[in-house]
Amino acid sequence: MTAASNQIPVTVIGLGPMGRAMANTLLTGGHPVTVWNRTPSRADELVAAGATLAPTPAAAVAASELTILSLTDYQAMYDILGPVVEDPRNADALAGKVLVNLSSDTPDVSRDAATWATKQGASFVTGGLMVPAPAVGTPSAYAFYSGPKDVFGAYEPVLRLIGEPKYLGADPGLAQLFYQAHLDVFLTGLSSLLHATALVTAAGVPAAEFLPGALTTLTDIPAMIGDGHELARQLESGDHPGHLSTATMMGATADHILRTSQQAGIDVELPTAVKAHYDRAIAAGHGADNWTALYEVIKAH
Ligand SMILES: NC(=O)c1ccc[n+]([C@@H]2O[C@H](COP(=O)([O-])OP(=O)(O)OC[C@H]3O[C@@H](n4cnc5c(N)ncnc54)[C@H](OP(=O)(O)O)[C@@H]3O)[C@@H](O)[C@H]2O)c1
Repeated sequence: MTAASNQIPVTVIGLGPMGRAMANTLLTGGHPVTVWNRTPSRADELVAAGATLAPTPAAAVAASELTILSLTDYQAMYDILGPVVEDPRNADALAGKVLVNLSSDTPDVSRDAATWATKQGASFVTGGLMVPAPAVGTPSAYAFYSGPKDVFGAYEPVLRLIGEPKYLGADPGLAQLFYQAHLDVFLTGLSSLLHATALVTAAGVPAAEFLPGALTTLTDIPAMIGDGHELARQLESGDHPGHLSTATMMGATADHILRTSQQAGIDVELPTAVKAHYDRAIAAGHGADNWTALYEVIKAH
């Protein structure tokens, strides 16, 4: 990569909210941007802003050394690029190219994709962008990356425009591992918020009377567990002194949440799963330990 960073042509494949936000950010950063999307009309505003709409996926990857993929999952990448390389006229279409896949999938799927891309002669970097579309390109945006360090390093200035890049290592599965682990916290938190809201609205309480206060319960969690280092130390040591919040006490509350949900006639799968963690921890002899002892039964399942 010899040209100034903001002159490097970039192709973006996949123009959902995230792909459009990334393409916009790259255009604003001065990059020549080529886009392709299965539904071409989603490119209209980008084309008006200066992007080039490639007529085919083959033309899209040919336009730039660097292609960023922003798709629902990795299967979509195979659906788009598979037919390109299977066409004898384009067999070398990916040779020498750099693919940065910012789509969600499992670590194993992203490892297999790296192997597939390498067979096509391409370099493959996996990534997970951790903010919603409106935050792409803002100071709050960050993304996990893994794959070949030299390739990541060469394109790091371009990727930095999208969000703060956090390189995790050469194993291509690492970025999706971190992405899915963060989203595990996020999605479970969102479901718990909706479940709790259903609990109070079933009793006739308006959501607006509940939700602002409920959010403080979420923000109180860091105040309770600190910045994560002490919790990490506890979990790694297997030491769960139960002087403040025992598994038995918390398990009783988990049971009360489940029974309140049953009485309200709302979905009970989430509180059933939470109660099961406490039941198993207590059955394993952790009743007098801290709630962190649930980790022992969760990781051993
Ligand atoms: N949205 C968010 O807040 C957010 C935040 C962080 C990360 N992410 C991740 O970023 C990725 C993109 O998110 P998004 O919200 O932009 O996703 P999206 O709205 O689901 O858009 C997905 C894109 O994939 C394309 N696509 C899906 N299946 C395809 C197939 N079989 N063949 C060809 N194209 C296919 C869609 O094309 P069409 O337009 O033709 O349907 C669209 O361009 C996802 O992996 C998501 O998990 C999203």
